[in-house]
Amino acid sequence: MGFAYWGNTLFTDQVSIPQIAKETGIPFYVYLLDEIVERTRRLHQAFGSMGEGNYIDCVPVKTWANLAFLRAMARGGCGADISSEGELARSLHPKVRMDTKKIVFTGPGKTEQDITLGIEEGILMFVIESLEELKLINAIGQAKGIKVPVACRVNPDISTAAFPNLAVGLRENQFGIAHEESVGYQPQGEYVTSIFQDAQSLPYVVPIGIHFHIGSQITTLDAITQAIKLTISILNTVRGQGIDTIEYFGIGGGLPIVYRPGERFTLGSVSIAPGELDEKIFKDLIPQIVELVKPTGCKLWTEIGRFRVGYFGALITRVLYRKTMRQKDGSEKVFYVLKAGMNDLARPAMYGKHAHHDIIPVVRINREDETADFVGWCCESSDKFGISRLTPCLERGELVAILSAGAYGSTMSSNYCGRLLCPEILVSGKNWWQVRRRQTPAEMMMLESVPEELDYPSRSEG
Ligand code: LLP
Repeated sequence: MGFAYWGNTLFTDQVSIPQIAKETGIPFYVYLLDEIVERTRRLHQAFGSMGEGNYIDCVPVKTWANLAFLRAMARGGCGADISSEGELARSLHPKVRMDTKKIVFTGPGKTEQDITLGIEEGILMFVIESLEELKLINAIGQAKGIKVPVACRVNPDISTAAFPNLAVGLRENQFGIAHEESVGYQPQGEYVTSIFQDAQSLPYVVPIGIHFHIGSQITTLDAITQAIKLTISILNTVRGQGIDTIEYFGIGGGLPIVYRPGERFTLGSVSIAPGELDEKIFKDLIPQIVELVKPTGCKLWTEIGRFRVGYFGALITRVLYRKTMRQKDGSEKVFYVLKAGMNDLARPAMYGKHAHHDIIPVVRINREDETADFVGWCCESSDKFGISRLTPCLERGELVAILSAGAYGSTMSSNYCGRLLCPEILVSGKNWWQVRRRQTPAEMMMLESVPEELDYPSRSEG
């Protein structure tokens, strides 16, 4: 059902958004469980041609981290892609219990504590991104008497993502390990093949995987198959050098969604209409991926975040104030100040014009359109959810939905300006549950303490 109007009221599946708002207060995130589960099922079906047991779907916890969601994913046979001790704790929470043999630990900045806990839990592997990290894992493995499975993340030097903040596959980015194929000279320093040799010779690590993740919201989808081909050639080189333990091939995430009308995507250098993007991914891109990876004999793992949940979450808020500001040229600028801000949804403030989210009224109204900026309640001029948007005129108190906020929405939220973390609502059919309640001011301050020595008046008195 998705997010759709019934009559003039916006529903999430079969639940009316004003109804949730009445019971929960504003703002809140609302998510469509059935759509997420269905999309996950389709991913499993499409990658299923890898063969029974040869595909692992690792959910990137950073995309959306709620325990109820993670539990649904674990039930559906998924594992997790984690990047911290906190995400490990979420994945292994008693209500979630991801299969540890489906957990991969990625990210360039794993701490000793992260590594120690991951080893103790017996996760599938650590995806290493530097020689020093490899040596640290070996040392911790040695202290525990455990041979730790690792994969090397290749930096393929391929540019891809929709905008620079999301590109991670270039040499100038801090991710992965450089490969020598692109340089054409005898490498010095950290290169994938030499790191595999190190991993082979260190006694407490075993290289079992090869991996890349070239960025998020990849609009030129051929970059993924290009990176696969390159990584396969590296795999062949490494195998040719006598390393025969590599049995997992990881291709990261990066599958895109349509955030704005008219967004451009390509596959096979052919332009894809936004309405056809999902089908092209399921029916063309994924079969191409499988066809390339299968002959390596490796199991395939993916870390698909945005494509799984991006469309299926919205931030619901309301208009606090409509204000106007006369401009120097005599025109009048309209601002809708919303009861939410960059503390709730950071993407527009972080990525500016690159992060578009449609904003629609929750109750459809037959009014004149006007052009307005939707701004947040934080004291930052970059706290703008949308600039110069054409919208039906709204009045104070009316609800709006900020769409396609399922991925990297609540996980990037904060207490900035003393705003409280907002509820998360999960909807399935006619049912809905509050899977995170609103934080209280006391909870916000809970971790802090005030040393008595800071009691300045009494000090000066003494
Ligand atoms: N694997 C690794 C190693 C990653 O770092 C990421 C995302 C993913 C997988 C998932 O990628 P996806 O399938 O979602 O494209 N804050 C940004 C997105 C940053 C992505 C970080 N890494 C945003 O709001 O758009």
